Amino acid sequence: MITADITAHVGPGGALSGTIRVPGDKSISHRALILGALGDGVTQVRGFLPAGDTLATLRAMRALGVTVEQHDAATLTVHGRGLHGLVPPDGPIDCVNAGTLIRLLVGVMAGQPFPSVLDGSEQLRRRPMRRVTDPLRQMGAQIEDTDGKAPLHISPASLHSFTYPMPVASAQVKSCVLLAGLFADGPVTVIEPGPARDHTERMLRSVGANVTVEGPRVTVTPRSTLAPLDLTIPGDMSSAAFPLVAALLAAGDAVRIENVGVNPTRTGIVDILRLMGAEIELVNERDEAGEPVADLVVRRAALRGAAIGGDLIVRAIDEFPALMVAATQAEGETLVTGAQELRVKETDRIAVMAAELRKLGAEIEERPDGFRVVGPQKLRGATAHGHDDHRVAMSLVVAGLVAEGETVVDDARCMDDSFPGFVETLRALGADVS
Ligand code: S3P
Repeated sequence: MITADITAHVGPGGALSGTIRVPGDKSISHRALILGALGDGVTQVRGFLPAGDTLATLRAMRALGVTVEQHDAATLTVHGRGLHGLVPPDGPIDCVNAGTLIRLLVGVMAGQPFPSVLDGSEQLRRRPMRRVTDPLRQMGAQIEDTDGKAPLHISPASLHSFTYPMPVASAQVKSCVLLAGLFADGPVTVIEPGPARDHTERMLRSVGANVTVEGPRVTVTPRSTLAPLDLTIPGDMSSAAFPLVAALLAAGDAVRIENVGVNPTRTGIVDILRLMGAEIELVNERDEAGEPVADLVVRRAALRGAAIGGDLIVRAIDEFPALMVAATQAEGETLVTGAQELRVKETDRIAVMAAELRKLGAEIEERPDGFRVVGPQKLRGATAHGHDDHRVAMSLVVAGLVAEGETVVDDARCMDDSFPGFVETLRALGADVS
């Protein structure tokens, strides 16, 4: 399908204020569909993210015989087929740009009694898949990849009890192995090198799976049935990061972002911005369906540079494009280390963000595993490119708010991959974006 692309125009910001909400959490939306499909009975989902990546998951579940009713954009009923009820798809499953979909689904497909093929866009076909196919093969799965990339051809095989010390801190790898563990002949354990998001573990527990966590070891023990879910998905912290940074740089009065998931494996960006001098309040804290939720209240702040590494990297892995923009406006040095995973996201986010921000006049020093920025720097409006990477495109829009003159972001349709309504949300805060 060829869709006309769009261009975002951004005028210098200033004086953002108001109350907004961001769309549902992308990670939880993918998982709600997949675990709903594997449950026995009817799963109800509210707050689903109706975006490019997660709609690919919805179509994938339908291709596997699962009836999914979409009552409105964010409200779904998933008629689960049980752990052993999926049906063979008619052809390859198209994961489009969604790395989370292909990497979680290959874990499920490895345990099915029928063959399947998982594929995606040109962009997805460039991303590394051995990180999931290697451990699955060690469990006994039969998978052929294409030079370590998609398409992935999966054949039926028996999966065995297994312990996997993960070489990278990745929730996609962890989730893939745990989902495959549902179909194994005994317990499956992953040992995590860092605290990757734990939505899969939380959701598996709430559908009655036997999941134990002992320090870095997460173990799932197979069972024959999973219960259905009744779930309200909170707003996505990774989407909230864009208005959060915009507010820190350009708020006139307080900006309040309501109903954001504040699972501690996802709040690295709040911790980093606080290290940089931001005041971010979490108010109205509550728990919804096993996930902590709060409203974020943030005001403009004079940021200062910080050294960022260790566990903060995995806890904020999707927020570094926005953070690079914040660093250009912070006083002094910001140094990010240990973040080489940024190079294998939708794009090489270190190289692409540095190149695009340079078009706006920024000086960014790229490092193999991160970047160094000394601020504050004056940004000048220019034409920049989104590279079919939603978080790059949205970060460039935020940069445009603090640049002098107009900034144009080409190839910005991809913002819909995770944050439909991004431009409208910024406009609601008073930003000059169209
Ligand atoms: C995700 C995990 C992260 C993150 C991605 C979503 C998930 O990827 O970047 O946007 O939902 O499990 P990695 O596991 O590769 O770090």
